[in-house]
Amino acid sequence: MIKKWWHDKIAYQIYPKSFYDTNGDGIGDLKGVIGKLDYLKDLGVDIIWLSPIYQSPFVDQGYDISDYYKIDEIFGTMEEFDTLLSEAKKRNMYIVMDLVINHCSDQHEWFQKALADPEGAYGDYFFFRKGVNGNPPANYRSYFGGSAWEPVPGSDYYYLHLFAKEQPDLNLDNPKLRNEIYTMINWWLEKGVAGFRIDAIGNVKKDPTFPNLSPDGEDGLGDAGRMIAQAEGLDDLLEDLKINTFEKYQAFTVAEVFYMKDENLEKYVGENGHFSTLFDFSTQELALGEHGWYENGPVLFEDYREALFHSQLKCQDICFLTNVIENHDQPRGVSRFLPDYAQNDAGVKMLGTVNFLLRGLPILFQGQEIGMRNCPMDSIEEYDDINTLNEYKTALAAGLSQEEAMKVCFRQSRDNGRTPMQWDASENAGFTTGTPWLKVNPNYKEINVKEQLADDDSVLSYYKKLVALRKCEQYKDVLTYGRFAPLYEKESDIFAYKRTLDGQSVIILANFGAEDKTLSLDGIFPEGAEDFTFSPDRILLNNLDDLFVEGQQLTLKSCQVIVLYAPGA
Ligand code: GLC
Ligand code: CA
Repeated sequence: MIKKWWHDKIAYQIYPKSFYDTNGDGIGDLKGVIGKLDYLKDLGVDIIWLSPIYQSPFVDQGYDISDYYKIDEIFGTMEEFDTLLSEAKKRNMYIVMDLVINHCSDQHEWFQKALADPEGAYGDYFFFRKGVNGNPPANYRSYFGGSAWEPVPGSDYYYLHLFAKEQPDLNLDNPKLRNEIYTMINWWLEKGVAGFRIDAIGNVKKDPTFPNLSPDGEDGLGDAGRMIAQAEGLDDLLEDLKINTFEKYQAFTVAEVFYMKDENLEKYVGENGHFSTLFDFSTQELALGEHGWYENGPVLFEDYREALFHSQLKCQDICFLTNVIENHDQPRGVSRFLPDYAQNDAGVKMLGTVNFLLRGLPILFQGQEIGMRNCPMDSIEEYDDINTLNEYKTALAAGLSQEEAMKVCFRQSRDNGRTPMQWDASENAGFTTGTPWLKVNPNYKEINVKEQLADDDSVLSYYKKLVALRKCEQYKDVLTYGRFAPLYEKESDIFAYKRTLDGQSVIILANFGAEDKTLSLDGIFPEGAEDFTFSPDRILLNNLDDLFVEGQQLTLKSCQVIVLYAPGA
């Protein structure tokens, strides 16, 4: 594996609207990001990914861009962005932007021109098609519900939108548009951004014949993703994108792709792949119901473990994945992946540890480092997210009561990840002096940065230890490049693995169960290749004060995780 500058780094996702507000309008801003750079540096963060800050009407919270060259005024100015870049640079930190090119906003100048004249030059920047017998051109259901075709008033044209109707899909097959996009990307790279997180990129290639699908719901529609899945030529498009932009700048790129097929990994993120890396969404995919959120139950531990083991094993000879517990499209990982008895500091630290020491680039999502939880909302009106509102309706239509549908939102809503960052115990969690744009989680008095910074046993202090472990000279190489091997796979409730490189191993042992669990440490090298003798100085991290070992028998308490050092193969 050819080493890359970003392999041994720690990344952090900022959702700017909810990070830190400096002017009291209730919305996080760029000055807020600049003001917290030292906090992030102290945590050990190297790479910062900013969710979109471009000009936008915010129908989908900035993932609907109306001007790719402007910073939206709610966040600040281009001068402030330049300050952020230079302040980050001073601290040896990298800024990664969000790149949304599958679609833009319906307020973008391109779309406004196209709408005025679908048959003109700008019409071909999008997908305009004529309706059939008064119906849309094809029966696609958009990802946010309803038809993916929106009629153009006063004409028999419709335009395609895989997401909201205010997010028309861009036609990247059109070389003119592609050039505009490439110029824009290179403009940001020239400015000094280190790369991009690339939004919804698996969707950019359409089947231009737009065939009808067999219906997969009572609405008579078929999931638009099925048309995408059968479109040909995506690889050529992505390669063209890379060659004309990222590659020239050695930019870091992380692609957002769900349900990545094993056989495509090499093409996407192999040595000469289209992107640097790809999010491992295997555990998120466990919680995507077929017809809607209402269909998902809790994620079971065995499935969680199997999903991660599977992706770790299949990737290690091909690529370097990006590991996430949560992001702005997901509920809080602690709420999703930990059972009730693990809803405590020990559980949070355990979940963080097993994820953080996997092979790959760890990305923390803002608030994860303090163990933020899903936010209880009192009524559907308190939610903002367009997708949550749609899923709520879908749940009601499927026969759930309002109360049940609210429970679904509490479990699944994207707003769980978007509530304001909890900085301290003062009003509005210290996020703003004004009225926050989205409800602050009422638990901010118990869960906030200020208190955790002052407490050596806090989740935040523990995350700092994890980061420090990953970065320390002695274990950095094995934790970055070490091979992954599962351990104790047959033991229920145990999440265990080792990372091995050049005669060094790091062992991670976690008990996700409610009861104590005793393991024989002789099982660490089952092949008998090495002897492993336990001694306390092998412990690199322990999330509890206690340690129960008798000879080679280690007893892990419920929610305990221990990281051990071992020489070995
Ligand atoms: C990605 C974003 C999500 C957005 C969607 C459409 O999945 O992460 O927030 O709604 O793309 O742009
Ligand atoms: Ca503000």
